[in-house]
Amino acid sequence: MCDSGHSHSHGPFGFLVDTPEIRALIDETHRQMAETAEPAERVEALKPAFAKLLGADGWLPHDYATRDEKSRMGDGIGQYALYRAEDGSLCLFSLVVPPNAATPVHDHLAWGLVGLYKGAQHETVYRRLDDGSDESRADLQISKEQSLAPGDFYPLLPPTDDIHYVRTTSDTASISIHLLANDTACVWRHKFDPAAGTVAAFRSGYANAECVEEAAAKG
Ligand SMILES: [Fe+2]
Repeated sequence: MCDSGHSHSHGPFGFLVDTPEIRALIDETHRQMAETAEPAERVEALKPAFAKLLGADGWLPHDYATRDEKSRMGDGIGQYALYRAEDGSLCLFSLVVPPNAATPVHDHLAWGLVGLYKGAQHETVYRRLDDGSDESRADLQISKEQSLAPGDFYPLLPPTDDIHYVRTTSDTASISIHLLANDTACVWRHKFDPAAGTVAAFRSGYANAECVEEAAAKG
């Protein structure tokens, strides 16, 4: 449910999943955003609250922890909005990646924290070597690889380490939780093919909430 008590013509905002655990993290994030100016400082200050959510059980409904057959990322990958600020300044979402599936190589274009809630993942991070002047080309080089277990999390502070993909290594789906300072699934970001050296515009979309232009197009 939307926390404002009514639905909007351009997709639901506010707490799409309203539990005390989610409210505690979002409230703390808003407090930090008001009090601190630097993204790196905010991310550091938010680590305890984020770790607390990852360590808690019972707050993520089954429907937000399951594969999405209509996924735009393919392979049944599901991206579910849990909280969306109406002004596009913050979101919290779960990402469900089935066994053996991998996300495209992508960027996020916002600061935040990403952590593993269930299952196991392998993350491959890239650095970009070109200057981005050609919209269709990107020269990427692997900068870091890491395995993630439940409770592990990492900061995103673009442009450093902002391009990556994750693959599920558990025999059950992996579920990661993302707190990011944009409306991640609705902003136009980028999908990369490192082998081909190409980049394309990419908007992943939420499985449970429409983006503004989509809702407008449907009238
Ligand atoms: Fe990502």
